[in-house]
Amino acid sequence: MTRRLLIAGNWKMNLSLAASLELAEGLKKAAAGINNVDIAVCPPSVYVQPVAAALKGSNIGVGAQNVYFEKEGAFTGEISVGMLKDVGCQYVILGHSERRHILGESSEIVNVKTHAVLAAGLIPIVCVGELLKEREAGTTELVIRKQFDGSFSGVAADDMKKCVIAYEPVWAIGTGKVATPEQAEEVHAAIRKMIEKNYNKEVAESVRIQYGGSVNDKNAKEILAKPNVDGALVGGASLKVDPFLGIIKSA
Ligand code: 13P
Repeated sequence: MTRRLLIAGNWKMNLSLAASLELAEGLKKAAAGINNVDIAVCPPSVYVQPVAAALKGSNIGVGAQNVYFEKEGAFTGEISVGMLKDVGCQYVILGHSERRHILGESSEIVNVKTHAVLAAGLIPIVCVGELLKEREAGTTELVIRKQFDGSFSGVAADDMKKCVIAYEPVWAIGTGKVATPEQAEEVHAAIRKMIEKNYNKEVAESVRIQYGGSVNDKNAKEILAKPNVDGALVGGASLKVDPFLGIIKSA
């Protein structure tokens, strides 16, 4: 089974409107004609609409970095999946470690959001990953198993196949300390086993598992060459055309 790689840029809380549009236009030109991988950018929510409009008709999809799980109502400050869909959004990053650790987002919340995103026909990119102290204590797999079970609880097999999982070791995010291709492959293979255990082999072989954490145009090729690594979720190196294009080309 061949899984199509997904290279997604997580812009986090960066860039202005003008810089977002400049980056989107630059990527649109630079990545034109590349159709052997899926490409997406995830701007801050206020820029999702203009960036999606700028990328319309291109081979680059647009994602959001978070969403609320209710459809509508008195939820001041929140944005619904329907609103994201309305402005051209196709992916939603859920449970990023910055949300889990800075904003206290639990796997239970991620789970409700995963269901809401799937119900609207969008693709959730659900992040999992261990802290340095958890890796050093030898509990990486246990931590990820808990995040996986919690985040995907009650998700039916057909929906699970559509999900993307991003393995992002917290110690590798924004630190320049990338996981070795072997470390990434080991965890990715373990995650695939978890999917197989909860579902079956067919579902496990369908789910795309991205790696995230200090991916750049120099280290991407080796990581993406691993059999269980199906793409990258890129932070810092997605904020400029050249390094992000380099990662796309490595795929
Ligand atoms: P960096 O690529 O900046 O380490 O960020 C990774 C990340 O958190 C992507 O979601």
